[in-house]
Amino acid sequence: MAATSARHQASDAQNLYDNRAPVYDDSWHPRFARHIVKFAQLQPGEHVLDLACGTGLVSYPASKAVGPEGSVTGIDISSGMLAQAEAKKSSHSHSNVEFYQHSITDLDSMPELKGKTFDAITCASALVLLEHPAEALKQWASYLKPGGRLITDATHPRSQLALITFERVGRALGKPVPFYRIDFQKPDDLRSIMEGAGLQVDVKLISQLDIDGKEDLESYLEDFNNPRIERLYSVDDADEKFDRIIDTWSMADLAVPDMRQQARKLFKEEWAKLADADGKVKAVDGVFVGIGRKAQ
Ligand SMILES: C[S@@+](CC[C@H](N)C(=O)[O-])C[C@H]1O[C@@H](n2cnc3c(N)ncnc32)[C@H](O)[C@@H]1O
Repeated sequence: MAATSARHQASDAQNLYDNRAPVYDDSWHPRFARHIVKFAQLQPGEHVLDLACGTGLVSYPASKAVGPEGSVTGIDISSGMLAQAEAKKSSHSHSNVEFYQHSITDLDSMPELKGKTFDAITCASALVLLEHPAEALKQWASYLKPGGRLITDATHPRSQLALITFERVGRALGKPVPFYRIDFQKPDDLRSIMEGAGLQVDVKLISQLDIDGKEDLESYLEDFNNPRIERLYSVDDADEKFDRIIDTWSMADLAVPDMRQQARKLFKEEWAKLADADGKVKAVDGVFVGIGRKAQ
């Protein structure tokens, strides 16, 4: 991976999440993070590396699961997100959690990780933010103990449709937006990069929206062939979708006057490709979760 692109991705993420940090937890992420912790099947005394830990939504439930004999090391690039995570320390009795500001694409340069390995590594809702996820996963897997678990996830290609459409537009116009969801088209795309990191992999599809206030993981597991429909949009919704997102920070390169009209035209074409014969655009509520295990 070129060092320059890694720095660019990390600074983009920092900008994006520093701004989002104060309201980040008002979302579906807390429940999804608890699912990730359940997939990790943590045991008392285990040591966990929580990559892209953000506000600590995985780190704290993980620290509870591993208890005082275990530990959680959280790493994130955004000082804003980490400040939220640190602030939670005072309202929890968690002396087994440490947070560090660093890029998760460059763990080998962290002195704090030198010579360390972990029973479980988690990376929730962040793999699709990385430009070179396969390379990152290989590095992460080197920090797993034999038999250790690595849990991460990728967006279903029919979820987050407007953002995914902007990704296509950005790439086509040579102005890429800072997300890489379109590289995950099917469960096997996540499986193959995790296997490429030397892991035995199981992939699940889980719902991200609330299901009747339920908490148990089983209620959120979905059928790959029949995923939950989040909403039916119309082919005519393209302009509204475009207008709602184009002026956000991530789309700045597409929003400039000499790009904007071209971007809108392409967005409408790409959005239309998502529609069925009746002009309906089906949005799925789903996230692929990969549960990888390193051989003993
Ligand atoms: C959607 S949040 C997920 C946070 C947390 N894992 C959760 O489940 O709530 C994505 C996080 O990835 C972090 N991130 C993105 N790229 C990163 C990088 N290269 N190094 C470290 N953190 C990164 C962002 O700062 C942000 O906190």
